[in-house]
Amino acid sequence: MPIVRGRNIEVLLSADAIARRNLELAKEIAAHEFHDLLVIAILKGSFIFAADLIRCMHDVGLAPEVEFILISSYGAGTESGGVRILRDIDASVEGRDVLLIDDILESGSTVAYTRYLVLNRGARSVSIAVLLDKRGRRKLDIEAQFVGFACPDRFVVGYGMDIAHTFRELPFVGVITEDAG
Ligand code: IMP
Ligand code: MG
Repeated sequence: MPIVRGRNIEVLLSADAIARRNLELAKEIAAHEFHDLLVIAILKGSFIFAADLIRCMHDVGLAPEVEFILISSYGAGTESGGVRILRDIDASVEGRDVLLIDDILESGSTVAYTRYLVLNRGARSVSIAVLLDKRGRRKLDIEAQFVGFACPDRFVVGYGMDIAHTFRELPFVGVITEDAG
């Protein structure tokens, strides 16, 4: 078991498994024939997934524009609650097909909020790609069209995802188990 910061990390998804799934996701996205596609990565947690997925999108022949939005969900501890924009996109979404990329779909508030914002600004369509889906935690009626993996109801870190801004650098997705001693 990898030890990082003196903690044992149980690997849930290896770097290889994620890379293989990213290419499949890119093929699923390509099959949709989006028009004037704008990808919006929802920062911060999606930054590694988005970086890998857009390169897979290139590999399957897509040429999206890429934007970033920094969204903060302010809830206590590891629970997400309300949502607000900390940094907005620069591009216009009007008349365009938009693909939102996030790390985890949990309650749905982050993605639902961003989707509403983009539709309100005149996007032609909004689709959602997430690496992980914690379905059992959903509070809003929203689904992602492109899901990397179903996620158990555990707090995961790595591959961009953090706990208090740590562990984002892990090339895999894991769960912190215990002190390595
Ligand atoms: P939602 O708004 O409840 O759907 O929460 C989704 C956001 O919460 C994601 O974008 C993540 O940044 C964060 N999040 C949810 N679960 C986890 C987790 O297990 N590890 C790290 N971040 C998480
Ligand atoms: Mg996030």
